[in-house]
Amino acid sequence: MYETNYSEVSEFIFLGLSNSRPMQHFLLVFATVFYTTIVLGNLLVMLTVTSDLHLHSPMYFLLANLSFIDLCLSTLTVPKMISDLSSGHKTISFHGCVIQIFILHVLGGSEMVLLIAMALDRYVAICKPLHYLTVMSTRMCILLVSGAWSIGLVHSVVQLVFVIHLPFCGPNEIDSFYCDLPWFIKLSCIDTYNLEFMVTANSGFISMGTFFLLIISYIFILVTVWKQSSSGLSKALSTLSAHITVVVLFFGPCIFVYVWPFPTVPVDKFLAILDFLITPILNPAIYTLRNKDMMSAMRRLSNQLLKLRKSL
Ligand SMILES: *[C@@H]1O[C@H](CO)[C@@H](O)[C@H](O)[C@H]1NC(C)=O
Repeated sequence: MYETNYSEVSEFIFLGLSNSRPMQHFLLVFATVFYTTIVLGNLLVMLTVTSDLHLHSPMYFLLANLSFIDLCLSTLTVPKMISDLSSGHKTISFHGCVIQIFILHVLGGSEMVLLIAMALDRYVAICKPLHYLTVMSTRMCILLVSGAWSIGLVHSVVQLVFVIHLPFCGPNEIDSFYCDLPWFIKLSCIDTYNLEFMVTANSGFISMGTFFLLIISYIFILVTVWKQSSSGLSKALSTLSAHITVVVLFFGPCIFVYVWPFPTVPVDKFLAILDFLITPILNPAIYTLRNKDMMSAMRRLSNQLLKLRKSL
């Protein structure tokens, strides 16, 4: 009763990525294959890092945490998208939508802070190698990870406090495959100019600020390495180019969704695919397959599992 008095909209309808049947079939296969890879790849990274003592170092702990967040981010949106594509039933309840927005911003905020932590880790390792063990201690690592989650939580709560009581009286169509603040706010039946500004300021400038901070730190690291020795540069470049790729692909869509003021062409929902289906694959792929320590840890892990199977 309370709900119906409060707002007339009790569910939202996703318009999805495409109306054409062949395109929907393609997206269904694409999303299923990529999501399966994301789950397996990120679980493998977490399992390898936690089970192998050689990998108990800050860089790998942060990497495993990043894998965890990536896995959650995909799981928040992609299974729903897959089920919508296969059933054609594309609704989400009002509460479901609010919960999705809340978790999305906790995870997104945490991932941004975690990427800064990873850049800090690389900065200390490359530019201050003698101080690495004292600066990046276990305590520091736990501090960075819990800091990431707390900042994500605060960021998300602050935004939701403003939008949770908005009245909705229709229409209730969201031109995307998941709920996020810009679309949600636009559907409210009061004038939301100030709120839209708040979202741009909060989510938008946080994404842009973090993005520039990260890019500047990576340039700073590269310049420092280059001054020390030009031979070290190519090695640092190969590690850091992976980080930089992830940063650009992760932040590009965020900046576009929150800051770009005139969505003349609805490309933001397609860009969102980068955040939910592409970067979560890139992390395990580039950090793992190009990394010798990680590869040998996986070999040890698979040997152990084989031995275990033989003894059973
Ligand atoms: C995340 O980082 C913490 C702190 O270093 C670590 O103890 C934990 O194992 C990591 N989480 C995962 C999933 O590896």
